[in-house]
Amino acid sequence: MAEIRAMCAIGQRGQLGLNERLPWEGNKGREYLADVARFFEVTRGHVIIAGPRTVASIPPFAYEDRTICEIRSEKNPADVLAWFPDRVVFVGGGPPVWEAYAPFIQHWDITRLPYDGEADRWFDPAWLVQARSTG
Ligand SMILES: NC(=O)c1ccc[n+]([C@@H]2O[C@H](COP(=O)([O-])OP(=O)(O)OC[C@H]3O[C@@H](n4cnc5c(N)ncnc54)[C@H](OP(=O)(O)O)[C@@H]3O)[C@@H](O)[C@H]2O)c1
Repeated sequence: MAEIRAMCAIGQRGQLGLNERLPWEGNKGREYLADVARFFEVTRGHVIIAGPRTVASIPPFAYEDRTICEIRSEKNPADVLAWFPDRVVFVGGGPPVWEAYAPFIQHWDITRLPYDGEADRWFDPAWLVQARSTG
């Protein structure tokens, strides 16, 4: 069985996304740059599964040293996770993906950034306590 993890960065009120990008895209502040660098460091050598909009926002260099897999809603989460036995799998969003895969996630890595502007995608703390029977 794969080790299932999730990693995300949120704003002060749980902001996750805006216009198909990170809400703080382009911000060169120390915390923002460190967060992106850490994401690529922690996921190196592992698998990232994510919805099509999130995959579209991943830069080409990221494919060199990790497995990136676009997932679709017609696939059953347990079946998708079974494609990667003995790998570390990061569930990479967006929100409907975290909602569906939450019951399988063993470890959440959440960075709370100083951003407090607008967003059209939000973190839901209920994901952290989703029972497997609801998935
Ligand atoms: N702050 C962060 O750490 C972070 C991380 C990731 C993403 N984001 C942001 O989130 C936004 C993108 O997220 P998004 O939700 O709009 O689009 P998304 O990444 O494409 O994810 C949602 C889509 O995933 C597909 N999907 C695959 N498996 C699914 C399942 N089992 N259940 C439900 N849906 C499933 C669905 O598309 P189909 O029905 O077409 O298959 C669904 O519409 C962007 O703004 C991005 O920057 C932020």
